[in-house]
Amino acid sequence: MFIDTHCHLSTEDYEDINSILLENRESGISKIIVSGCTRDSIIETLFYCDQYEDVYCTIGYHPSEAGITTEEDLLLLEKQIQNKKVVGIGEIGLDYHYGKEDISLQKELFHKQMKLAEKYHLPVVIHSRDATQDTIDVLKEYPTVKGDIHCFSGSIETAMIYTKMGYFLGIGGVVTFKNSNLFKVIEAIGLSHILLETDAPYLAPEPYRGRINSSKYIPVIASRIAEILCVSVDEVSKKTTQNACTLFDLQ
Ligand code: NI
Repeated sequence: MFIDTHCHLSTEDYEDINSILLENRESGISKIIVSGCTRDSIIETLFYCDQYEDVYCTIGYHPSEAGITTEEDLLLLEKQIQNKKVVGIGEIGLDYHYGKEDISLQKELFHKQMKLAEKYHLPVVIHSRDATQDTIDVLKEYPTVKGDIHCFSGSIETAMIYTKMGYFLGIGGVVTFKNSNLFKVIEAIGLSHILLETDAPYLAPEPYRGRINSSKYIPVIASRIAEILCVSVDEVSKKTTQNACTLFDLQ
């Protein structure tokens, strides 16, 4: 059995949510953790958590929402995270890929949500793009908060910094791409700090690259990790499921 620790689920991407979830179960996916990271997607995500036993979520405002997230949104988020199916806050963080004009707004939003994580003892799911050092600097201010560096794609050195801080690395379809160097990171850190994720509907693994992704492809990612580490897929399944259950306090 596997847990997809990070994906998105919306009728904007999938015609029939029911059949997507059925396919997941048939592929051995026992739980999925959906990330709701905009005002609308948080509401849609909470709806699926309510409808389906195997759907859990993390919610929080993505850095791209920094310019439009209001104090009211954050007050509502504080209420929403008290729902039992909410297992963490995210994806939150910093994204400088499209420029740094709103850097102070992004940092402010990130800090406010890290404070919520600290207050409610919830793990965080971090989105960090072209912003590694600033992300590390913010996380260091909250030493009691643990989390998942979603879609990790950094160096071995960066991986070591995060794992020493108690963070796990979310590994997804990118590890199957021929031009990816992620295998070196996995060789260096082993299974102890790895979580499986798809980031569906984005980033489908090979040989499905370019198509719409879904949690049913988690075993493809697990197979590649097993191959890199010369262990069985079963071992990858067991250890990553244990990691997910530890971080997100799942049974
Ligand atoms: Ni995502």
